[in-house]
Amino acid sequence: MSNASLQTTTSAPRHVAIIMDGNGRWAESRGLPRIAGHRRGADRVREVVESCPELGVTHLTLFAFSTENWKRPEQEVQGLFRLLRRYIRQESARLVAEGARVRFIGERSRLSRELQALMAGLEEQTADNDRLHLTVAINYGGRDEITRATRRIAAAVKAGELAVEDIGPDTIERYLDTAGLPDPDLVLRTSGEYRVSGFLTWQSVYSEYSFVDVRWPDFTADMFAAEVRGFGRRERRFGAVAG
Ligand code: IPE
Ligand code: IPE
Ligand code: MG
Repeated sequence: MSNASLQTTTSAPRHVAIIMDGNGRWAESRGLPRIAGHRRGADRVREVVESCPELGVTHLTLFAFSTENWKRPEQEVQGLFRLLRRYIRQESARLVAEGARVRFIGERSRLSRELQALMAGLEEQTADNDRLHLTVAINYGGRDEITRATRRIAAAVKAGELAVEDIGPDTIERYLDTAGLPDPDLVLRTSGEYRVSGFLTWQSVYSEYSFVDVRWPDFTADMFAAEVRGFGRRERRFGAVAG
């Protein structure tokens, strides 16, 4: 959903999206295998998720695995998916109790049946919740998402369900994995890298960015709260002049 009005924010970002980066370097700098960093990273996810409601953050989107991450050694890829399966199994009850509605974005067909079933199960279990909208991006890439949406739009046109002249930004939004979710107000990346690596390409055109020089396994709930507060001091103009 676009939010194209002039807005000088003094409030919390409604939707925060996080590129959780730096797990590998965190582990390597300690002489540990990279997967140890991913494991510690998963603990940080829990803390950040829990802190959202009190900070006024209603939507949290997390980048867990990109369409490019398949290029990593098989062992690391398998380790990451093992952690994702474990996270879903272990956190389900807590997420339900916390009133989180969980959605997954990304291309699922390449994921194992077991993981796909866990994902669908958690989405179903939490479908009626709305205290926190938690979206997890797995095998996600912004270009891949837009490409898949374009194919479906083309198929709808071909089937006579959609007229070419009726296609607008709102049509495209409806075909994206994030259909129905607000655009991220704040996109945060840890680890000191200044890039977005294909995260929420369409959705983040007017997002505020924050690049934090801390590796994800060291990123605490207090640091998250500081970023959320920092957002409140920014002036968003959306192309208009300052008021
Ligand atoms: C982020 O940490 C987690 C994933 C991409 C899955 P990295 O694994 O990218 O850690 P670095 O960037 O190599 O330190
Ligand atoms: C982005 O991190 C993807 C996730 C955090 C899941 P990467 O570590 O994969 O990104 P690059 O390779 O530094 O761009
Ligand atoms: Mg990285």
